[in-house]
Amino acid sequence: MTAPDEKDSSTLRWVGELPGKLNMIDQTRLPEEFVRIDCKSPEETWHAIKRLSVRGAPAIGVAAAYGLLLGVQNDENLSREEFLNKLQSTADYLAQSRPTAVNLFWALDRMSQVPKTHPELAPPELLVRLLAEARAIEREDQEMCRAMGEFGQTLLEDGQGVLTHCNAGALATAGEGTALSVFYAAARAGKQIKVYADETRPLLQGARLTSWELQNHGIDVTVICDSMAGWVMKEKRVQAVITGADRVAANGDAANKIGTYSVSLLAKAHQIPFYVVAPSSTFDFALLTGADIPIEQRDPAEISHGFGKQTTPDGIQIYNPAFDVTPAENITALITEKGIISPVTTENIASTLNSGS
Ligand code: MRU
Repeated sequence: MTAPDEKDSSTLRWVGELPGKLNMIDQTRLPEEFVRIDCKSPEETWHAIKRLSVRGAPAIGVAAAYGLLLGVQNDENLSREEFLNKLQSTADYLAQSRPTAVNLFWALDRMSQVPKTHPELAPPELLVRLLAEARAIEREDQEMCRAMGEFGQTLLEDGQGVLTHCNAGALATAGEGTALSVFYAAARAGKQIKVYADETRPLLQGARLTSWELQNHGIDVTVICDSMAGWVMKEKRVQAVITGADRVAANGDAANKIGTYSVSLLAKAHQIPFYVVAPSSTFDFALLTGADIPIEQRDPAEISHGFGKQTTPDGIQIYNPAFDVTPAENITALITEKGIISPVTTENIASTLNSGS
């Protein structure tokens, strides 16, 4: 697999003005092939999110914002009321693509606020504002990634080994990533970090995506099977764990890729700090704890026929939750664009994220 050239390496981008289209890396094809695909409708965007061509909480949010725009961009001749109805029904549709990452709902809600804050505007002007809002969501995500990386890298020392799970990198955001932005910032600060990437069954985001991304950025990365994480800790190869999150409840309980909870328990048993890196767009203050975070259940075939190979007998029962919830008590610190939150408590989260800076 050759590295993408500079000009088309963005995970996703809006092409053109109005009308335009959403262009993205098809992450289902990595690392074998680097292929970019276009989404020209909300339906194509919905399917791209559902099948994980675009995935990772912040990237899903950005894709949904542009997907919503795709649903109304040719409707400038509708009445304002008809336009708003179409906007709402498209947002409702996109909201059905995946349930766990709150960034999806956060971005759709932000887009839906645009007409409410501009009651005087007709569809042609609203479209211009909606494109500006989607671009702002994308740009702010890039800025948040950068800030989280800078805060996070202060927690790492030159020469350390760090375990990560799933892919919380540039491929999962519009910027440098959440968890992986810490490694990029550490590298800029002159620190050599040795990253261990869990392969992340069943869809191998760690083996396929994190290793590909870090290798392309010149970061030292070693892939291990998920079942090796405890032994790698026992061998003292890692001094920290850093993951992203798909939704963080008000008390700090954090949903992330299935397997993260197990890694948090292993880290606790080995007295290794466990850090979760998440922008404010990933926090859901409507949920007091992680108990109410909806967990996506995915197709059993991802386990029984992963990547085309049958690995279980015909007719076997499969359970395939895509996410789990790590309790706040297992998280040493939350790293946000507004600062590092430790200890992880409802009060500390609220005061850091409401600081207004
Ligand atoms: O199913 P995925 O690949 O969308 O799951 C992604 C993750 O779990 C990431 O760790 C999370 O979204 C954080 S991304 C910055």
